[in-house]
Formats: sequence, C-alpha cells, structure tokens
Amino acid sequence: METLQNVLTRRSAPRLTDPVPPDGELLSLVEAAMTAPDHGRLQPWRLITLRGDERVALGRRMAACAGDDPTVRERAAAKPLRAPLLIAIVFTPVEHAKIPRWEQLAATVAAVHTVQLLLHDRGYSSIWRSGKVTEQDEVRALHGLEDTEQLLGWLYTGTAAGPVPPRPRLDPKPRLRSLSHACPLSA
Ligand SMILES: Cc1cc2nc3c(=O)[nH]c(=O)nc-3n(C[C@H](O)[C@H](O)[C@H](O)COP(=O)(O)O)c2cc1C
Repeated sequence: METLQNVLTRRSAPRLTDPVPPDGELLSLVEAAMTAPDHGRLQPWRLITLRGDERVALGRRMAACAGDDPTVRERAAAKPLRAPLLIAIVFTPVEHAKIPRWEQLAATVAAVHTVQLLLHDRGYSSIWRSGKVTEQDEVRALHGLEDTEQLLGWLYTGTAAGPVPPRPRLDPKPRLRSLSHACPLSA
C-alpha cells in the first residue's frame, strides 16, 4: 500500500476476529517498527503477546480489580476476549544522562504506531486500549513487569470484524504555523 494511503486509511477497529498475523510475520513487523525514531537507539520497550487462555487469565486479573459487583466483574473479564491477539506494550525506560524519560516514551509510541500502520498494510487491524487497570499489581504481575517498567496498554489485534467507517479529516492549518505567524517577532 502506498504510504500516504496507508496512513489515511488506518482506523482503530473496536471488534476484531481471526485471522491474526502468524508469529513469523508479527516478528518481521516488529523488526521493521524498530526503525522508528529512537534517540540513542535505546529501544526502551518490549511487547508481550497474549492469545487463547492467556487472554482469559488477563480477564480474571481484570475482574479481580473491578470491585464486588458481579456484572461489572463479568464485563471486565470479557474485555481481553474482544480480539484474538493482544500485544501488551511495556515501556522499559532507563536512566540516561542525555536522553530523558519523555524522549524514551516518544520513541516507544513511535514504534507502536509503526506496528499499527504495518498491521494495517498487511490487511490486519488493531486498537490501542489502556486504562487504570494497567497500573494494578495483579495485572502488572501477570506480565512479569519489573518495578521500573510501565504497562502502556495493549494493542488488540486481528482482522476487523466489520467495516470501520473512515474518520472525517481535520483542518491541519492550526497544527502547522510559521514562526512569524505563531509568535510574531518583535523588531
Ligand atoms: C495511549 C493510548 C491509549 C488508548 N486507550 C484507549 C482505551 O483504553 N480505550 C479506547 O477505546 N481507545 C483508546 N485509545 C484510542 C484508540 O486507540 C484510537 O486511537 C481512537 O479510538 C481513535 O481511533 P482511530 O485510531 O481510528 O483514529 C487509546 C489511544 C492511545 C494512543
């Protein structure tokens, strides 16, 4: 797919089903996404796939954090089942004299979005989902997170279960200004 067309047509798909990318294909997409801008080439992230019963286990942990109402717990348990493949996004920042944490987070987001664009290019779809649940000890423990690591959510991944309408294009002009327009220079 042509790059501009890929970017313009990517949409997050709320309902996902099979097929999912096979392991080898997914690895090659991740390898390609590692070319995303990354100051110092720190690659301060890692991804964890959850399929089948692994998603059920995540749902149990989500339910355990959802309070006492059985209906709410049931809904929480079903959340990871909305896609056949979840890709947990783990931010793994390091202390660095020249590269602050925010730059490492920016590099991580650049890589994750590149994965989303590459999935779309291959005919798959995804949606990045997060929430307070990413901070819960039970959920963090399931993913084996170190204290220094942060769970940024999951890329729910698969094939769109139905058509996802295109998003109306927004006016780009307020997002791009010349310096003299944005901040008139005093003589
Ligand atoms: C860091 C991050 C976290 C997100 N978390 C959620 C979420 O928990 N639930 C949700 O419905 N959308 C979430 N979104 C938004 C969707 O992933 C998606 O980008 C949004 O619905 C816009 O749709 P589009 O990608 O088709 O433009 C999140 C996006 C980002 C970047």
